[in-house]
Amino acid sequence: MRDSLENEIPYIHFKDVSFSYPGKKENLIYKCNFSIKKTGFWMVVGKNGSGKSTLLKLINGIIKPKHGVINSKADIGMVFQNPDHQILMPNCRSELLININQNISDYEVNKKIEYVLSQVGLNGFEKRPVHTLSGGQKQRLTIACALISNRNFILLDEPTALLDQTSQLKVLKTIKNLTCDHKKPLSALWITHRYEELTYADSVAELKNGFLSNWQEPSKFQYN
Ligand SMILES: Nc1ncnc2c1ncn2[C@@H]1O[C@H](COP(=O)(O)OP(=O)(O)O)[C@@H](O)[C@H]1O
Ligand SMILES: [Mg+2]
Repeated sequence: MRDSLENEIPYIHFKDVSFSYPGKKENLIYKCNFSIKKTGFWMVVGKNGSGKSTLLKLINGIIKPKHGVINSKADIGMVFQNPDHQILMPNCRSELLININQNISDYEVNKKIEYVLSQVGLNGFEKRPVHTLSGGQKQRLTIACALISNRNFILLDEPTALLDQTSQLKVLKTIKNLTCDHKKPLSALWITHRYEELTYADSVAELKNGFLSNWQEPSKFQYN
């Protein structure tokens, strides 16, 4: 139950953003320009080492650009490759509880927990110990945590890299459904090195040799 409508639409704008890690002369990201101004399922594809995780760190402000400007108005939730590095608590309910950042009644807490678990296909998992979940279920729990903390923009850094194909599909479809929700669509930026995942996206861009391509429809996406 994400609240106000104005909270729904994130705004991210990169203008000529370049970045290199300290001590490195060459730009890892070079004159990167893109915008995200509406809800949807966005994907960036690139090979290992192409700078995908670095791009996410620039978006969520962990690192600052060397040149260029980043404007961002979004409540960003993160989903990492390995959910075991992210989940802190012993069961689903307690993990969700620590992600609620509002002062609300027990009744509302329970309603929210039930709602977000249903949003990620984990109905009835409230009391389940985290160690009994599969990798894909853990990933969907981390998505539920982003939802319960009212994030309007979820960044997912290769969230399926450690999953088998069935779990991979479930996580992909979970995000697809959330971004297609007609009442309260979410925005998600999904980073991947798996080209076969691109068909689920609304818009796709490729990061290669420091350059980020324009957004393209997946059906028209051209490998560089
Ligand atoms: N903190 C860091 N300091 C220096 N170099 C880094 C750091 N993080 C990543 N790199 C280097 O930047 C390049 C891109 O890394 P990364 O953004 O993680 O790529 P990807 O996520 O596409 O695999 C790699 O060569 C990596 O070794
Ligand atoms: Mg990475």
